[in-house]
Amino acid sequence: MKFKRWQNLSEIVPDYIEEFTSNYNSRESILIEVEEFAKENKVPILLPSAAAFLRFLVSVLEPERVLEVGTGIGYSTLNIYYGYPEAEIFTVDSNRKRTAIAKEFFKKAGASIKLLEMDGFDAIREFLSKGETFDLIFIDSVKSEYPFFNYKVQSLLSDRGVAVFDNVLFRGYVTGKEFDKKYKRSVELLNLLLHHVKSYPNFCSSILPVGDGLLLLKRKFVL
Ligand SMILES: C[S@@+](CC[C@H](N)C(=O)[O-])C[C@H]1O[C@@H](n2cnc3c(N)ncnc32)[C@H](O)[C@@H]1O
Repeated sequence: MKFKRWQNLSEIVPDYIEEFTSNYNSRESILIEVEEFAKENKVPILLPSAAAFLRFLVSVLEPERVLEVGTGIGYSTLNIYYGYPEAEIFTVDSNRKRTAIAKEFFKKAGASIKLLEMDGFDAIREFLSKGETFDLIFIDSVKSEYPFFNYKVQSLLSDRGVAVFDNVLFRGYVTGKEFDKKYKRSVELLNLLLHHVKSYPNFCSSILPVGDGLLLLKRKFVL
């Protein structure tokens, strides 16, 4: 069966490649169940190819503490969990309809996840006020919020921490490719994020054309 995502089809990767890379990775049956639920109910989730990369990254980093903004129905959260089940995972989402479904999937997977049903900015403010840091921060919320999350993310990253932002290529629109004007603000703000991140003297970053584009960010090593 041809892999089709109901929305946000990766327009930066040809369909046949997306299908191949998505199906290449074996994954727990519960992850396939979440993917099918998302397709049937038209709920946005990370593309499986990007999820597989995230999971691999987590398994390499072995982060003690993870923060995710944008739980949705918990697909990316479970990929993070399976990457390193020892991690203490905090995930934030203000949409209670979605978090109710995520909770069910977490339970079914037997995954211990700290789900914060609140606004991401409020959660971050609380973590900052307590001086808490994270070894991995994954942002998958509203694209126009990314630059504002990014300002906070830098203070929340531990010395070895890595931040990952999803959808930064936004179907290629950030490159100047023609797009509907309803996306103008999101495209402008994503470009602002990419421009800012590139100019930080103490951070290094990389854009990976995986899924809808992942931005990776970490502190530079100081010699
Ligand atoms: C694309 S979905 C997340 C998909 C999820 N990461 C996955 O792969 O299963 C984006 C989610 O971000 C949440 N969101 C957007 N802005 C937010 C904010 N400021 N605070 C908390 N949640 C937010 C939305 O409610 C939505 O569920």
